[in-house]
Amino acid sequence: MSTSEPSDSSSTLAPGSRPVWERGAGEPDRPLRVAVLYNLKENAPSLNGSAPKDALAELDSMTNVQDYCNALRALGHAVVAFEGGADLPRRLSAHPVDICFNTCEGFRGDSREAQVPALLEMMGVPYTASRVMALAITLDKAMTKRVLHYYGLPTPAFQEFFAADQPLEPRLAERLAAGRPLFIKPNREGTGIGIHRDSLVRDEASLRARVAYMLKAYHESVLVEEYVEGRDVTCGLVGNLRPDGTPDDDLHFFPISEVDYSVYPPGTEPFYSYELKVDLADSYRNLCPAPLPDHIAAEVRRLTLETFRVCGCLDVARVDFRLDVNNHLQPMILEINALPGITSISDLTLCALAEGWTHYQLVQAVFNAAVKRQGWRLTGDRQPQALGAAA
Ligand SMILES: Nc1ncnc2c1ncn2[C@@H]1O[C@H](COP(=O)(O)OP(=O)(O)OP(=O)(O)O)[C@@H](O)[C@H]1O
Ligand SMILES: [Mg+2]
Repeated sequence: MSTSEPSDSSSTLAPGSRPVWERGAGEPDRPLRVAVLYNLKENAPSLNGSAPKDALAELDSMTNVQDYCNALRALGHAVVAFEGGADLPRRLSAHPVDICFNTCEGFRGDSREAQVPALLEMMGVPYTASRVMALAITLDKAMTKRVLHYYGLPTPAFQEFFAADQPLEPRLAERLAAGRPLFIKPNREGTGIGIHRDSLVRDEASLRARVAYMLKAYHESVLVEEYVEGRDVTCGLVGNLRPDGTPDDDLHFFPISEVDYSVYPPGTEPFYSYELKVDLADSYRNLCPAPLPDHIAAEVRRLTLETFRVCGCLDVARVDFRLDVNNHLQPMILEINALPGITSISDLTLCALAEGWTHYQLVQAVFNAAVKRQGWRLTGDRQPQALGAAA
């Protein structure tokens, strides 16, 4: 397939469904030319001196990029790797590829994860994982929650703050007055960025002080949510939905995992903060599969797929939940990660490892899901089931 050829959106969509499948323009019977696209921490524009220490936590390292490249080379493909920056079109013009393996979190801008996909769309180059609209929506937690709300999917009540003196909406004010805490986080971050001990607030003065700090520190809107007391679980999948909305045969759920709070010292905050996720990563333990009643696990998987569907995601995602201990473990959707970490120690990778997959197999499965969407059929040792590469 030529890199300048626009993808051909299917014209046979069922009413109300989304264009998740696209017909490819050929069936390469050869190794694919692949560009792994990344954003490295060391290439980030310099932050001002007052930036919080967690500000760059989403960005990648060259070791991880090498892992992605090696996993794809193990499938027999010809792999190069490029920084997903403003000169990407020039690089791809000089070095045409069949498909990109996109891991770009983006450096700045309110839709930063959607920027590289937008460039690739403009150039007509296929790529792995979700497309522009899905990445723009899912990076924005408040916007995602509006979509979930529209579809009647359970997510904590919330308010988006653009100024610290914004009036607090009655339903959240009533919660505080009833002695029920609220939770504060940046609206467009991941990896626990901006989630610290002070994120939990019990009175309006603390709420306003925290919102004011967050607005200044992270330069983006702030999400205030009802605090769901409960268990933290996450559920990941690879694969896609068919045009009629049913799961494709290759769609695969990984075992649900749960944060094990018993390993942390007494007094540790009862939520998955940056300190737990990053600073204490070495003592982190996930229970995988999570010890859940079958009907709760089934509901978590159902809600994961519904979230994936209504947000228009492709190839891979991980949905984070809190199970409400005050409401029969009702799963409450916190967010969907449409570009979930797939480094050797990422949560999704740990779920895959718990099921006996290798790290390489996870990377390959994401790639193969995208290849399948192009309508390309690869043969022989490039088939997913023959990917016995060691991690
Ligand atoms: N409304 C809430 N009620 C209770 N706990 C919450 C709430 N929102 C977030 N948390 C806690 O904070 C953690 C991180 O929240 P969230 O998943 O929104 O942040 P993130 O930084 O995007 O995460 P990730 O590391 O998955 O990218 C959750 O796992 C949970 O422990
Ligand atoms: Mg999360």
